[in-house]
Amino acid sequence: MSISKSVKNNMIAGSYIRKMFEEGIALKKVHGDANVFDLSIGNPIVEPPESFNRELHQLVNHPQPGMHRHMEDPGYVSTRLAIAAQLSSKTGVKFRQEDIVMAFGAAGAVNVAFKTLLNPGEEVISFTPNYFEYENYAENHGGVVKYIPADRDLNPDLEALSATITSNTKAVVINSPNNPTGHVYTTRTLQGVAEVVLRRSAELKHRVYIISDDVYSTLYFGQGACPRMVQYYPHTIVVTSYSKDLSLPGERIGYLAVHPQCEDAADVVKGLVYANQVLGFINPPASMQNAVRNLQNSSVDIEIYRLKRDFLYHNLTEMGYSIVKPLGAFYMFPSSPNPDDEVFVQELKQLLVLTVPGHVFKAPGYFRMSYCVDDRVIEGSLKGFKTAIAKYK
Ligand SMILES: Cc1ncc(COP(=O)(O)O)c(C=O)c1O
Repeated sequence: MSISKSVKNNMIAGSYIRKMFEEGIALKKVHGDANVFDLSIGNPIVEPPESFNRELHQLVNHPQPGMHRHMEDPGYVSTRLAIAAQLSSKTGVKFRQEDIVMAFGAAGAVNVAFKTLLNPGEEVISFTPNYFEYENYAENHGGVVKYIPADRDLNPDLEALSATITSNTKAVVINSPNNPTGHVYTTRTLQGVAEVVLRRSAELKHRVYIISDDVYSTLYFGQGACPRMVQYYPHTIVVTSYSKDLSLPGERIGYLAVHPQCEDAADVVKGLVYANQVLGFINPPASMQNAVRNLQNSSVDIEIYRLKRDFLYHNLTEMGYSIVKPLGAFYMFPSSPNPDDEVFVQELKQLLVLTVPGHVFKAPGYFRMSYCVDDRVIEGSLKGFKTAIAKYK
């Protein structure tokens, strides 16, 4: 085979979820669509809000000259102004349009951030369980990910964080609400992370940035607004998108926001713009930048996800599954009744319930389910979950 060895190896690891999804399609052919319960992939079924369709109609019915041409390198000023205003009011940090760079979804944004920050061999710290693509994205830009397992309550181990930060550490990635657990860090936890990173940066006389992956911050079931890292650490680069809050993952629209007090903020922004260019993203689609401009305070109906979470959490814990109750996103991450999560996930598959083993997220002994699916799928899966755990009681 002529493709590169690293692509070949990484393809195998990264394709686990895709494989599950495809096995689900094969199982549906044999057993019928209605009898297979696929909770493996995080593809939200909730439709975008009506306000999004109105914005699209507006664009089509009232086209403006030049609306499909290249725009300013970081993206439309008007869209970035709207984002800066919303982010400022949500976080209390005074963002300006100069601090915002439009990106090709959060995935594009993380790549742009890594490309901008990382010298070859430099390290990025990530708490596990984590979004498995960080490793591939860091590797794209010559970086290495160092993992720190979360504690039993899924919170960061601050002592381990302190010990892991060295002068070779460039950034710490925070993802709250989290994929794959749905866990949300409290204000105190975020402050704790900020204190450690500030202290170690001072001791080492070496700036460590925090990349805050806030892609699920609107899908938050707690009181008030979701606590966000950028409120507690000035050297933060926010990466996010409209994939989850507006249910637009296929449209590839997101942004990066650099804290105005970030060290070298102006250089960081210039670097992000340059990275967007040379990675070939250039800018996310003009039509989507126009469509989301006025939707900064819109979102899908979060209540739909909250109800699904409550139903699933209630039923699974009654059956005996042990779960840290998720406060956001649309994932749940129970302990696997069999310490070998791969075995348990295969047993669930025999019962036509598809999930993803924790080892995919560097957290063996757990499994992930995505509940951004029809209620019919969630309700139908319960029988399989009950049968699967019975053997371990
Ligand atoms: C934690 C996390 N970050 C980033 C992404 C990428 O999102 P986007 O569709 O905006 O590229 C995902 C997608 O599921 C995710 O779960």
